Amino acid sequence: MLGNFTYSNPTRLHFGCQSAESLALELERFGKKVMLCYGGGSIKKNGVYDDVIGALKKTGKEVFEDPGVMSNPTVEKLYEGCKIAKENNVDLILAVGGGSTIDYAKGVSVSAWSDEDPWKKYYLEMREPDNKIIPVGCVLTMVGTGSEMNGGSVITNHEQKLKIGHVFGDEVMPKFAVLNPKYTFTVPKYQMTAGFFDIMSHIMEQYFSGEDDNTSDYIAEALMKSLINSSRAAVKNPEDYEARSNVMWTATWALNTLIACGKTTDWEVHMIGQAIGAYTDATHGMTLSAVSLPYYKMIMPYGIPKFKRFAENVWGVCSDGKTDEQTALEGLAAMEGWMKELDLVLNARKLGVTEEMLDGIAGASFILDGGYKKLTKDEVIEILKQSMNY
Ligand code: NZQ
Ligand code: ZN
Repeated sequence: MLGNFTYSNPTRLHFGCQSAESLALELERFGKKVMLCYGGGSIKKNGVYDDVIGALKKTGKEVFEDPGVMSNPTVEKLYEGCKIAKENNVDLILAVGGGSTIDYAKGVSVSAWSDEDPWKKYYLEMREPDNKIIPVGCVLTMVGTGSEMNGGSVITNHEQKLKIGHVFGDEVMPKFAVLNPKYTFTVPKYQMTAGFFDIMSHIMEQYFSGEDDNTSDYIAEALMKSLINSSRAAVKNPEDYEARSNVMWTATWALNTLIACGKTTDWEVHMIGQAIGAYTDATHGMTLSAVSLPYYKMIMPYGIPKFKRFAENVWGVCSDGKTDEQTALEGLAAMEGWMKELDLVLNARKLGVTEEMLDGIAGASFILDGGYKKLTKDEVIEILKQSMNY
């Protein structure tokens, strides 16, 4: 049964090659002072920076640059950004980059005018903003997180060995998002495929929960099929516009709250992945790929009907003459084959995980109860060990 829900998504999204024009159009709606956040400099090499600066100049903005947003943005960087935003009383935060830059911009948006420590308030205590929120807009250059159309903001605290995401409400979600598939052509292969698996994981986290005949699950299956097809094409030819545009749009729908409507969700793979990230600073999508196979094999016996459906509807496995369990296992085997084609990380050692970290990572993995099986800490350790022996 579809549970009760309220659906709303305030992000206005512009898709396609007219990105500079779309950006200028959006910028007109905001005040003069714009804080421009970006990462380690890829946008200066691939021309995106020039397009953005062109739109900012055309609309007469005063620009305050905040470069150097790292992958897995840190709490220290967040404090730095808050200072720039507050001192200059900016009217808009424009994030140009991937999930890290956009998540960071949302963090600054709610924190700059807060009198309390944002790490404690938003990430440890999960409280909601009660102060001025600075509007955020974004130009997406790397596909995967869905941050362009959701309220998620994940921040890492290396000192406390915690990586925590807060999902903020409508008022923090980007007011606009500019998506140009061509901007993603230059993403390095490792990051590109990590992003592809991040998308798959977002869909699976919402799919493998509940037993109902639910519209969201049919949409999820279609998104997974599109992703599988287009990811294969994009790996062969990174400049395949059709493939890159399909993946980009799929990523947005995978995590803009639509497919979670009316159903329970899991998110345990992300909890373990984020804990690995807190210890190793590894690439987000690869932390998920490294633990997904052992995790899904462990929970499969508790959700056989859904795993069978996944095998048949997503991977085209024929169930004739097979037990439900055999069909379900073939589905996971097909997924494993696809993961190998993409050259994803399947062994957590490749991310820097060591035996000494296991207890700490398991302790930092929040245990949720929306999936088919609520894990124990020992089971998290077992999943990590299986990954390390893959
Ligand atoms: O720093 P730059 O120079 O921009 O380089 C980036 C970075 O090294 C590079 N890159 C991005 N676009 C490029 C490019 N290189 C060449 N050409 C381009 N067009 O790619 C690298 C990775 O970028 P990053 O933004 O870190 O990746 P991603 O988009 O995967 O974001 C990861 C962060 O998002 C969080 C993750 O935990 C992680 O901190 N997540 C956010 C979510 C949300 N908001 O809902 C949900 C996700 O599950 C995830 O947790
Ligand atoms: Zn993710």
